[in-house]
Amino acid sequence: MKKRYYDLENPESWPNYRWIQPPQIAYFVTTVDNAGNHNVTPVTLGTCIGASLPRNDKPGEYYSSFSLGHANLPDGGNVLEVRHGFYNLEEVPECVISFIPATLMRHSTLTGLPIPRGISEMDVAGLTPLPSRKVCPSGIAECPINLEAAAFQTTRLGYYYTHYLCKVIAVSVDEDLMAKDQSGLGSLEIDPLFEVNIQRNSNDQIRLYYGQINRNKITRTADDIGCLKDWIGRFEQ
Ligand SMILES: Cc1cc2nc3c(=O)[nH]c(=O)nc-3n(C[C@H](O)[C@H](O)[C@H](O)COP(=O)(O)O)c2cc1C
Repeated sequence: MKKRYYDLENPESWPNYRWIQPPQIAYFVTTVDNAGNHNVTPVTLGTCIGASLPRNDKPGEYYSSFSLGHANLPDGGNVLEVRHGFYNLEEVPECVISFIPATLMRHSTLTGLPIPRGISEMDVAGLTPLPSRKVCPSGIAECPINLEAAAFQTTRLGYYYTHYLCKVIAVSVDEDLMAKDQSGLGSLEIDPLFEVNIQRNSNDQIRLYYGQINRNKITRTADDIGCLKDWIGRFEQ
């Protein structure tokens, strides 16, 4: 098989970056400044990166991470601006992560517009604050799942992104969603929006393309491969 190789340290090397970032569930990251003004940033550069279930009398430990732009950069016809979520996390290192159901595609697009700092995207998009119990920012009532999270480490990723490591310390889930979740698929039950691509449409406009998972096409591991006792198992097994 012939393979194309891109040396990503060469500035002339320009692959489709979707070879590197696969489709990712979109979520709102809600933050506050010191005065309590709310900001909502739609985000896809991140996911849950650690999940230890409760065991040996210890509570479960869950970690999520995401990246926000921290610089102003010219970008074709646009200016990429410092994310207001970045400013807020500098002031109050807490957030609420709310997965975006397909019913909120329009809201997701509205919250992604460059709305001036101090104006809450929730007001612009018609979303309702859901008071949090352990962190200052509210969640979003229209989102069936809201994760309250504390950012405990930030890392600069090159010239544009700041990466946040967060401990998820509480989750609120709509009870009717829990009743529906017979399959155990959890967040997939909300029919979440995935960011799939950003590309030109037939009118030469740059659009963000979302996708959804067809739940009838979920495949489980075939019964005749792997360990039959556990999903990983032990070497002897
Ligand atoms: C679905 C979607 C995903 C996005 N993912 C990110 C991301 O991961 N990081 C980021 O910095 N911007 C991301 N953006 C762009 C920001 O959300 C957008 O620039 C927004 O206006 C920034 O909001 P803020 O300045 O209020 O924080 C995304 C936008 C959309 C619509």
